[in-house]
Amino acid sequence: MWYNKVMKGNQIIECHDQNLKVDKIPKNYLELGNDALREKITTARKTLGDKLYIMAHHYQKDEVVEFADVTGDSLYLSMGAAKNKNAEHIIFCGVHFMAETADILSEDWQNVYLPDENAGCSMADMANLGDLQIAWEKLLSKFGATILPLTYVNSTAQIKAFVGENGGACITSTNAKTVVKWALEQNKKVLFLPDQHLGRNTAYELGVVLDKMAVWDYKKQELVPQNAEVAPEIILWDGYCSVHQQFNLNNIERMRVENPTAQILVHPECSFEVVQNADLSGSTNKIIETVADAPRGSVFAIGTDNNLVGRLRQKYESEKEIHFLNFYSCSCATMNRIHLPHLAWNLDNVLDNNHQQKIEVDKKTATSALRSLEKMFEIMRS
Ligand code: 13P
Ligand code: SF4
Repeated sequence: MWYNKVMKGNQIIECHDQNLKVDKIPKNYLELGNDALREKITTARKTLGDKLYIMAHHYQKDEVVEFADVTGDSLYLSMGAAKNKNAEHIIFCGVHFMAETADILSEDWQNVYLPDENAGCSMADMANLGDLQIAWEKLLSKFGATILPLTYVNSTAQIKAFVGENGGACITSTNAKTVVKWALEQNKKVLFLPDQHLGRNTAYELGVVLDKMAVWDYKKQELVPQNAEVAPEIILWDGYCSVHQQFNLNNIERMRVENPTAQILVHPECSFEVVQNADLSGSTNKIIETVADAPRGSVFAIGTDNNLVGRLRQKYESEKEIHFLNFYSCSCATMNRIHLPHLAWNLDNVLDNNHQQKIEVDKKTATSALRSLEKMFEIMRS
């Protein structure tokens, strides 16, 4: 497990990542106040002009979003990285797999940086190549060559490469239904990595019953249930998101009592029972659009990263009522590692031609990973 939770009663008040590398940021950046850091960042952006493109995921802190040229969900940002042909320097304020994806999709002459190398993703880290190779061998020997792998974009470049080499595709939470539908139509069993919840919720929406789903327990390297009579249509890797697993049925029941008019919106990385008991589930982008399109006076309770929910609350303060589905849930600890000192340090390094925050996927991995991403884009176009 990556995270230690600090509890107060039954409330989570803090999450800690256990596997951090030594943060190389010089101490002086941490000692500067926010005003000085903002000034530094603003000056560096002016100096770099069009050569710089700052991308930020919707779960980033407000102080970082303030400096982003573009904000978006995983799909929007991947497409943005592929489209931008001007900027020599792309600073990705997100997590490691996002910067890797941007590097794979951008041109060779473009440099992609992650301001803090410790900004990983606990879900992506639940699927490593070695475990996948063992799982693949065992599953092929059980079911024959009838398996098609799909990987959520929230995975390492190595996992994307494996999927690309084996005829599969990448997916995002926005296009999950389209890509899983395509995969189910290939008359093969689908191995879905690494988020079991997104896989289960999407397959169920497409009509796959729970009895036709099995889970691959990557720690024990076995299928659950193990009964060979259960011929699963979809095999779900036993991964999950540390943020979205914090929402539960109690949160929903309580919200229904305290705010009976609230529509409950949750991200499909939440558990099956949470998604089934919510009013609507959808990607980060779908949640934002639903709130934006709702009439004045609408009431929502949202189950996703609280940085985003807080921003939506502020934006619609005077016209819509927005509640945190779980006020005490931690927002993504690794996304939150990117803050003003790391962004300012990254920009100074770019100005000094120092590439220590650069994320570079090796050529061989990038070429295979690109196949899984291109397959995804091809399915979306068809
Ligand atoms: P989306 O941005 O695709 O909704 O995914 C949410 C997430 O967990 C990003 O890490
Ligand atoms: Fe990973 Fe969840 Fe954080 Fe997204 S929100 S980066 S899936 S831990």
